[in-house]
Amino acid sequence: MNSTLNSTFRYPDPPTRLENVIDDLGAVVGLLERNAPYNPLGGWFRPDQDGADTTTPMWFQQTWLGADVAVEGSDLFVDHERVVETMRQFYDAEVVVPHTLFVNLMAAIPECGPVHTDNPLFRGRDRSNTPMLLLRTMLWSGLFQRWATAQATSIWWMNDVEGGGIAYWPEGSDKPPERHVGAMANTSIVGDNHGMFHQVEPVGPFDKGTHLVSPAAELAPTDDGSGDWAVTDRGVESYRAPLDQIRVSVLFKAHVFPTEDERRRVEHDTLSFADVARIFNEDLAERGADVRFDVDRLEDLSHTAALATIYPEPVPVGTRKSVFDT
Ligand SMILES: [Fe+2]
Repeated sequence: MNSTLNSTFRYPDPPTRLENVIDDLGAVVGLLERNAPYNPLGGWFRPDQDGADTTTPMWFQQTWLGADVAVEGSDLFVDHERVVETMRQFYDAEVVVPHTLFVNLMAAIPECGPVHTDNPLFRGRDRSNTPMLLLRTMLWSGLFQRWATAQATSIWWMNDVEGGGIAYWPEGSDKPPERHVGAMANTSIVGDNHGMFHQVEPVGPFDKGTHLVSPAAELAPTDDGSGDWAVTDRGVESYRAPLDQIRVSVLFKAHVFPTEDERRRVEHDTLSFADVARIFNEDLAERGADVRFDVDRLEDLSHTAALATIYPEPVPVGTRKSVFDT
């Protein structure tokens, strides 16, 4: 079943690498400082995360552009001519509509991040109204491509830290990954992170193992004149380092349309849960599967999990253990 899915799922082209992307690095530092503090990443692959336990690696994240956020200065990334032009060229498309910008700050994680493709979204169905596992199952079923607006992603790295590379699978999940590691400062890779698997590699420093914090921890610049940044966890400083020893990456995402006419043509072609049910259930019947998709069981994890076994997500060749694996 896996091989059938792989042969019908079209992988994107390899991403494009850009050098010397940001002219004014001081402006980025200003953005980082003004928007502090930063909190640890939550998200769909952390279902175990709850309460105040000190179980979270130092992977901090913040949205700078989103549905109801647009921080001052984010145009430094969003209106970046060369990056946007690279997105157009990557898809041979005319229209790029930025929608998301977020920043990651990481340190002392001697294991990899989870291998993944970025959160799937379809016109009418995204993480704001649809469970993530269902969105992923919709993606790997290949049944909903008509509603999947092409997504361009640029990842930019501010600095070179110990480790901190990224592995990515430009030839698909059944071929070994390539890596971008070392000399990453002020480079970007621009491509399709929604179709291409990728995995963040271990982030240093490595001499003290994984430094864990609670979900309430905050990362911010100190005000003692040292220039250091520090993690304050429930009132106690638990980590301290200069900014250039914290891996900073900025992700920029945009919808891409071949033409403005095409953007308008598909704008109102959205996917309802009734459509999702009909399309899944026709396919499940054709496969002779016992499972049926039931809109009334959206919150029932066992129901979504049963569906996911029919349309499994590939595990790429060369995947490494994640810090979130239990
Ligand atoms: Fe990603």
